[in-house]
Amino acid sequence: MPLPPLFRETLSIPVIGSPMFLVSFPPLVTALCKAGVVGTFPHVNARPTAQLDEWLTGIERDLAAHRMAHPQDLVTPYGINLIVHRTNLRFEPDLEVVVAHRVPFVITCLGNPAPVVEAVRAYGGTVFCDVTSADHARKSVRAGVDGLICVGAGAGGHASSQSAFSLVREIREFWDGCLVLGGAINDGYQVRAAEVLGADLAYMGTRFLATRESQAQDAYKRMVVESGVADLVYTDRFSGVPANFLRASIERFGIDVATLPPKKPDMASLTDTKARLWKDLWSAGQGVATIHDIPAVADLVARIAAEYRAACAIPPSSALGAR
Ligand SMILES: Cc1cc2nc3c(=O)[nH]c(=O)nc-3n(C[C@H](O)[C@H](O)[C@H](O)COP(=O)(O)O)c2cc1C
Repeated sequence: MPLPPLFRETLSIPVIGSPMFLVSFPPLVTALCKAGVVGTFPHVNARPTAQLDEWLTGIERDLAAHRMAHPQDLVTPYGINLIVHRTNLRFEPDLEVVVAHRVPFVITCLGNPAPVVEAVRAYGGTVFCDVTSADHARKSVRAGVDGLICVGAGAGGHASSQSAFSLVREIREFWDGCLVLGGAINDGYQVRAAEVLGADLAYMGTRFLATRESQAQDAYKRMVVESGVADLVYTDRFSGVPANFLRASIERFGIDVATLPPKKPDMASLTDTKARLWKDLWSAGQGVATIHDIPAVADLVARIAAEYRAACAIPPSSALGAR
């Protein structure tokens, strides 16, 4: 299946480090790119728009210097995540900054990607759209995106309730372009499994949240390490869109999710309580089941690469008959 030219021969493992609000800042983005994993961040992590301009300049300078100093290293292009939702007032000014910097890779979420496709294609950039259902995927294909990122059940942040097995195969019935799969992918075995399922690349968030370079608070990283799947709450009551949260971060504020009223999706970051969504109420996916440490990105990627190679060598079932 086709990988856009942008990603050919730059990756050490077939993985995109997914954008995470308040977590993916330039140190994580550049550490990922230097390890051969596509580093990305949500545009709203840089505040205001002027800071976005500074961040992009800094990321480009840092990656260019690394390429010069280490010509033998695989260094990937970086990407930015644009939130296209109509309530996002930063969308238009930030898209202008993205165009001015000719950001190589753009991921859209929560809205129609068509205006982004038009603007980014004009300078030769690549646009993928984040989708959580086959219907959403069909709309994105009609908008002309270069790739689809499907985020299945168990993902950190906003997550589908549809199993990855079902979602990937359903989308593959009508889309033969580049497909990325996210949701509880932590190690090289899962990356390989995503490929076998029909994805070209894996999308990993929660695993990279618990790294030294991530901007998440230390207590948040520790909570990811200490939590299991039973410690997650899947609810739409905070943002209007279903997402996975760490129960302990919610209970610190005495919030009982069962009593919260329904909410319409919007960009507001305040709940009815004193706890701020994403900043105080922490999100993580079912990957918490197998996250036990907070390594440096380079060490983690080397480990995933070794697991991936081992997974690629797994023979088919020995239970098969000889016929
Ligand atoms: C703390 C956190 C914040 C996130 N913020 C964003 C965001 O701003 N934009 C976005 O498109 N996805 C966001 N996501 C979703 C991720 O990009 C990705 O879909 C998800 O992390 C993949 O699942 P995994 O966490 O199980 O690996 C966030 C996820 C987490 C855990």
